[in-house]
Amino acid sequence: MINELVRKNIKELKPYTSARDMYSRGILLDANENSFGSVVELKGESLNRYPDPHQMSMREWLSAYLGIDYQRLFFGVGSDEIIDLLIRIFCEPGIDSIMTLEPTYGMYKVAADINNVKSETVLLNDNFDIDTEAVLSSWNNKIKLIFLCSPNNPTANLLNKQSIEKLLLKTRSIIVVDEAYIDFVEDDASCIGLINQYPNLVILRTFSKAWGLAGIRLGYCIADEEIINYLFKIKAPYNISSLTRKAFHDAFSNISKKDEFVSSILKEKQFIITELNKLPGIDKIFPSDTNYILIKIKDARSVQKKLAYDGIIIRDRSNQPNLGDCLRITVGTHDENIQLFNLLHKILIKNNTL
Ligand SMILES: Cc1ncc(COP(=O)(O)O)c(C=O)c1O
Repeated sequence: MINELVRKNIKELKPYTSARDMYSRGILLDANENSFGSVVELKGESLNRYPDPHQMSMREWLSAYLGIDYQRLFFGVGSDEIIDLLIRIFCEPGIDSIMTLEPTYGMYKVAADINNVKSETVLLNDNFDIDTEAVLSSWNNKIKLIFLCSPNNPTANLLNKQSIEKLLLKTRSIIVVDEAYIDFVEDDASCIGLINQYPNLVILRTFSKAWGLAGIRLGYCIADEEIINYLFKIKAPYNISSLTRKAFHDAFSNISKKDEFVSSILKEKQFIITELNKLPGIDKIFPSDTNYILIKIKDARSVQKKLAYDGIIIRDRSNQPNLGDCLRITVGTHDENIQLFNLLHKILIKNNTL
């Protein structure tokens, strides 16, 4: 099925063969690198050399960590790169489309727009979950990719796994489940357990959230080997830098730190919810399975602007479908959250007494 969905030119593409595809040891005089060294010294790293195009050491580490064959793993420059690559593998510009379930993460549509690929939109239901009937009735065979974000950004909730399975079974599309925020929920919330059953399932993950590594730009996907091979076929030869690879290995020697971050963030999220409940003018605090909270608040835009004026930046999401007057607050440190509430308190008391 996968092969049938891939664009013809990608199937026929003769990929670029880079120097390090062939040889990575010996006297390397094949890639016009600087044989004398690098102006930057980093212990244990040869920054004058191009990095491994096959991402082997990282794939092997991740494979052991996840218990998934390394041939089913691919790393991208953030998960954003993988979103773009998937669109380029499967969607013929001007002909095919993707489907997004709104409101959701904006990059799916932007990446499609950049590639001149249409986005079909179906709304999430009143609980911000999948309306399977609406998806199935809007589906057509031009829709090559369906993006599902679980937990969803910005609504913060997990999507129903049975509904995801229904779409995996009943559509002839690649179903991309973006699990950027999965570290903030229980392990069994992930769709990773479905990966052997459904060749049309792609799971996206990132090191930008719980791992605290947004600056190194690293995401990965878990998918059928055939999809992984296409990703390798079209990516830029050396997409993952040596510095990123080093940070990845350092991160894996310090996994407990990630777990500590998650528990601190969850504790602080509880604090925020308690404080929000004490404030006037808040219409709704949506349940959160993530490191952020979505709230519905009177005059959302002006509240966001007033906070920003005093240096506290949260995200106004009120222009997204069904999110009128909604703001998204990322969990900060305790000190940051105290400052947020001191200011919010002043703004809202003033608003409510005018
Ligand atoms: C749902 C979702 N997916 C992907 C990303 C992008 O992740 P990365 O930093 O790995 O490109 C984000 C970033 O905010 C996100 O919210």
